[in-house]
Amino acid sequence: MKIYIFISILVCLLVCSCASGLLIAPSDVNVYYVGRVDKSNGSQYVLAWSGVQFSVLVTGTTTFSAVLDSVGETYYSVYIGTAMYVLNISSSTPQPYSISETVSLDPTQTYNITFIKRSEAEIGISTFYGFLVDNGASLLPYPKARGRAIEFIGDSITCGYGMIGVPPCSFQPDQEDITLTYGGIIAQELNAQFYVEAWSGKGIVKNYGSTTIPSNETFPELYPLTIPTQSTDYWDFNDFLPDAVVINLGSNDYEQLPHPSQHLFESTFIEFINYISTKYSDKPTIFLICGPMIGNPCCQYIQNIAVAISAVYIDMQDILKPNDYGCAGHPGVEGHAKMAAIALPIIQKNMGW
Ligand SMILES: *[C@@H]1O[C@H](CO)[C@@H](O)[C@H](O)[C@H]1NC(C)=O
Ligand SMILES: *[C@@H]1O[C@H](CO)[C@@H](O)[C@H](O)[C@H]1NC(C)=O
Ligand SMILES: *[C@@H]1O[C@H](CO)[C@@H](O)[C@H](O)[C@H]1NC(C)=O
Ligand SMILES: *[C@@H]1O[C@H](CO)[C@@H](O)[C@H](O)[C@H]1NC(C)=O
Repeated sequence: MKIYIFISILVCLLVCSCASGLLIAPSDVNVYYVGRVDKSNGSQYVLAWSGVQFSVLVTGTTTFSAVLDSVGETYYSVYIGTAMYVLNISSSTPQPYSISETVSLDPTQTYNITFIKRSEAEIGISTFYGFLVDNGASLLPYPKARGRAIEFIGDSITCGYGMIGVPPCSFQPDQEDITLTYGGIIAQELNAQFYVEAWSGKGIVKNYGSTTIPSNETFPELYPLTIPTQSTDYWDFNDFLPDAVVINLGSNDYEQLPHPSQHLFESTFIEFINYISTKYSDKPTIFLICGPMIGNPCCQYIQNIAVAISAVYIDMQDILKPNDYGCAGHPGVEGHAKMAAIALPIIQKNMGW
């Protein structure tokens, strides 16, 4: 009996070490996260919103894989040192996605490997089960972000819906890249921690394609959630204190008839902003963008709201020229760069950055 157990353990050790190396759990203290992550199970962290990031500094390994799945499609930008490639995950069965098959790793070097969810929650929600590395590999403490923090809240525009692609073209899930959106550019320029909660088609009181006012599951209903498809999974607002919150909502409310009344739109929007302000103990500065896919009356109402609550209004009506579009009538890479160029100096001036 004892011998049998001993042999079983020995066989297991050999097989496990040869076949799979070391599994670093998502909850390892040296895995660094930015954005809303559901950490309720230390063996599987769930990521939904665009821009959620996880990073490690790893040394002593020639192999490196991330074990991931996606319900729906998830696209990650994977950075290793200065190189970047896109990882496309459409399998709901967890499996290792190898970095070392793409970039050869020198075990004497230390690598900064960063995954950024570049596509939105509506398209796919991904679970991270850990990293597979060689036995003997180790993680270094990841330097924690300091200083500025900025949050972007919005709809398809903020997600970068259709941004990669040359018109005429319809939307494809792989056409979003949060790092190239106006929010991504601004966060990068300001060297700020970057949080995004955005969902295509959502409005303040009316969603795209809906004829019901108020529509079901408008943006303010999804906003409090870590995983926006799980209506009980509330985000802990103490985990991130933004200095600035930039909101670009309202385009879907006024995209099609029937339009919401001015009173309902303004009062619900103000209620939403007040909710955000009470959740964040540091009382971030609020910026309200209107445009570039909508004009009046929506933009007039948003200016009224900015005056009422002392937020900073940023006007982006009619800024897009034919070359600025991506697919499905949305701002493309050039359009997002233009949006960033308008908002950046206004944010800098008001934040003293
Ligand atoms: C936590 O995640 C692991 C790995 O996916 C899974 O096997 C386990 O059942 C989960 N635990 C709970 C309590 O859900
Ligand atoms: C991603 O994978 C899906 C499913 O296999 C496929 O339809 C899609 O074209 C792929 N996209 C890219 C960019 O490779
Ligand atoms: C790691 O790489 C990411 C992506 O390029 C970068 O944003 C980050 O600053 C790097 N971190 C460190 C500690 O080098
Ligand atoms: C809105 O939600 C209600 C209650 O859950 C449901 O009965 C109704 O069908 C939903 N409407 C739409 C358009 O999804």
